[in-house]
Amino acid sequence: MDTGLLRAIYREITTRQPFTRTPEPELVMESQPCVASYASSAGQGQALSGTYLYHAAQMCALIKPGDVVLDIGCGPASLLLQVARLNPRAEFVGVDLSKNMLDIARDSIRQQGIDNVELIEDDMSRLGRIGDRSVDVVISSMALHHLASLEQLESTFRNIARVLRNDRAIYLNDFGRLKSTESVDYFVQRASDGADQETLLDYRNSLLAAFSLEEFQTLAASYLGPCARVYSTALSPLMMVVRTPKRRCVKTMKPEFKRRYAALPSSRKADVQQLRLFLRLGGLASAF
Ligand SMILES: C[S@@+](CC[C@H](N)C(=O)[O-])C[C@H]1O[C@@H](n2cnc3c(N)ncnc32)[C@H](O)[C@@H]1O
Repeated sequence: MDTGLLRAIYREITTRQPFTRTPEPELVMESQPCVASYASSAGQGQALSGTYLYHAAQMCALIKPGDVVLDIGCGPASLLLQVARLNPRAEFVGVDLSKNMLDIARDSIRQQGIDNVELIEDDMSRLGRIGDRSVDVVISSMALHHLASLEQLESTFRNIARVLRNDRAIYLNDFGRLKSTESVDYFVQRASDGADQETLLDYRNSLLAAFSLEEFQTLAASYLGPCARVYSTALSPLMMVVRTPKRRCVKTMKPEFKRRYAALPSSRKADVQQLRLFLRLGGLASAF
């Protein structure tokens, strides 16, 4: 473990006055430079590819043939399409408020010839276009910190519960709020290998906008039922996951996840290894 990481962990344990959350400067990611930069970091082999692979495998363990799966804040849908292709007998709905993100997602659907994904422009805190009890699985990745306030996060969790059928399955991952801005800067610098300045600035804004572990725990306990557990990376909650128990064995998919892992550049393999290690220490086993 490097000394910078040890220092960050020590700071996180000893800081008494955590910094105040700063909402994302662009809540809905609509401006062209922001959308283009994000979509490129979400591309194959790019900055987010290791993170996507880790979460895609986790999401697959919740999805059964015939399910309707809702991805809230789907963005360019890179992760959504990965999961949809791995589960051709499930139906997927991606929701985002950004027209430009949805346009990119639509192009990718066309280019990849995918026929089990529908995209809807909707607010994830309301889900006004999604019917009550019409969905089997709700997934989300790195989107909830884009909400303006804790009230909107509460409304999002309430609506997730409303749209889910009885056998509710949930996998939501997002950044967690650190205590010190020095730790934020440390983790941003740590991610700089292979990432451009725009991506690093976006990452910093995300960490400053993250909700806290306690906020996630309180709202999950209030709205998502006793089966939804909140996990976080050990020692500092850099990444948080709300997850219900697995609904299926992904043993047959493991060779495919391993093949995709082997094809990642080394810096992205390191992202997977760190997520595996720190989430496992936080109680969540890796799906592959
Ligand atoms: C950081 S991106 C994450 C995209 C994708 N889930 C991923 O993992 O790459 C966050 C997305 O949430 C969307 N978003 C922000 N506020 C939203 C809202 N209230 N309702 C729906 N989408 C929203 C943004 O437009 C953006 O596309």
